[in-house]
Amino acid sequence: MKTMRKKQFRFASFLLAFVLAFALANTGEIAAEAKTTEKTVILYFSATGTTKKTAARIKKSTKGQLIEIKAADPYTDADLDWTDDDSRVTKEHESASSPAKSKVRPKIRNLSAIKKAVKKADIVYIGYPIWWGQAPHILYSLVEKVSLKGKTVIPFCTSMSSGIGSSAKNLKKKAVISSKTKWLKGRNFFDVPSQKTINKWVKSLEL
Ligand SMILES: Cc1cc2nc3c(=O)[nH]c(=O)nc-3n(C[C@H](O)[C@H](O)[C@H](O)COP(=O)(O)O)c2cc1C
Repeated sequence: MKTMRKKQFRFASFLLAFVLAFALANTGEIAAEAKTTEKTVILYFSATGTTKKTAARIKKSTKGQLIEIKAADPYTDADLDWTDDDSRVTKEHESASSPAKSKVRPKIRNLSAIKKAVKKADIVYIGYPIWWGQAPHILYSLVEKVSLKGKTVIPFCTSMSSGIGSSAKNLKKKAVISSKTKWLKGRNFFDVPSQKTINKWVKSLEL
């Protein structure tokens, strides 16, 4: 009788160990899945808030990490006055035939934090406002300094009436990338898109 009980006990212990091992393996899987969503970083530069709001919606949709590209010398309203021949943006614009060819590279205050986050990420959204049909010069400061090797890059921009045009392609030309970088076409939004529009777009990327 005693041997019978011993056997039953051994069998029960074995069963318990098996169930525990199975449960732990599944917990591991869930943890790995949660980590994957953290592999998305949304970088954005925004002077008047439109791209910022758009980026926040992308964050909501992707559950990625949202990081503002902060100019070391922030743009004031006067700096942004494109109707003024002497304003900062006009001077940047007139420094070369395109931002890609310009030597103007405004400093990014939080560059090391951006580098750290991007290093850990697989998917990097890069957002900016359209300035004279192109990405602002500070975006070049970003792509020339932050390695996007092996990453999936999704440019997005906001504007009043222009499309994405050659802005993202020009950024790609100057970016630190590798043959494993997947640089997607990207998309422009007029004003702040709805959360529904963003969700639909993010889903269509199939990342
Ligand atoms: C210097 C400057 C140049 C601009 N050039 C264009 C342009 O070429 N085409 C356009 O549709 N909008 C242009 N805009 C408008 C911005 O692209 C638009 O308002 C954008 O959504 C602003 O984004 P933000 O609020 O994130 O800075 C320009 C704005 C500024 C300040």
